[in-house]
Amino acid sequence: MGSIQLTHHFRPVALEHASRLINHGPTVLVTSAAGDRRNVMAAAWSMPVEFTPPRIAVVIDKSTFTKELIAASGAFGLCLPGTALADLTYAVGNQSGRTVDKFTLHGIVARTGPVLGVPLIETGCAAWLECRLIREPHAEEAYDTCFAEVVAAAADERIFANGHWQFRDDNVELQTIHHLGGGNFVRAGGVLCAQP
Ligand SMILES: Cc1cc2nc3c(=O)[nH]c(=O)nc-3n(C[C@H](O)[C@H](O)[C@H](O)COP(=O)(O)O)c2cc1C
Repeated sequence: MGSIQLTHHFRPVALEHASRLINHGPTVLVTSAAGDRRNVMAAAWSMPVEFTPPRIAVVIDKSTFTKELIAASGAFGLCLPGTALADLTYAVGNQSGRTVDKFTLHGIVARTGPVLGVPLIETGCAAWLECRLIREPHAEEAYDTCFAEVVAAAADERIFANGHWQFRDDNVELQTIHHLGGGNFVRAGGVLCAQP
């Protein structure tokens, strides 16, 4: 990951820790690109399926433009919006990128993924994962579920450090959001520490 050019507070996340980034089920922004097209959509249904190598699954409806781009490129990004991006997350989850470039429309600044070149969002996000699609035609067709291996990851050091989330009063804007339905979200942050 030496070639990663990170902005602001983003730092590389070791791949053995990458699955922890979505262990708590955050709503994500799925980013994609193919040819001269790029896109971003919201997805509430993502999860880790393996720690090493880090593998994830995400439900991406086959009717979406996102799915079309991922099928063409074999790659996508998962970006974890903080509370500051709740409105944007809802907006890109309710419009299609087929007829509009949502990055331009919403003024979203994207950087280029270090391994696969997918667009990745850092401003307002807590973390991102760059993912290589593991082609599983049956799962994609029957369940709209895409499996992928995480090939690079990074997180804002103010909220994810030393391989762990740090939800605190001073980083509320970066805390992940979780969709309850109908545009209502709950943010992570009510941390409970189980006692052994
Ligand atoms: C909060 C939220 C969560 C969503 N979660 C998912 C999801 O997990 N999987 C999915 O296929 N669509 C999900 N959607 C719907 C897509 O984001 C939506 O269909 C989007 O317009 C697709 O954009 P595209 O055609 O540009 O790819 C969600 C929408 C919202 C607002």
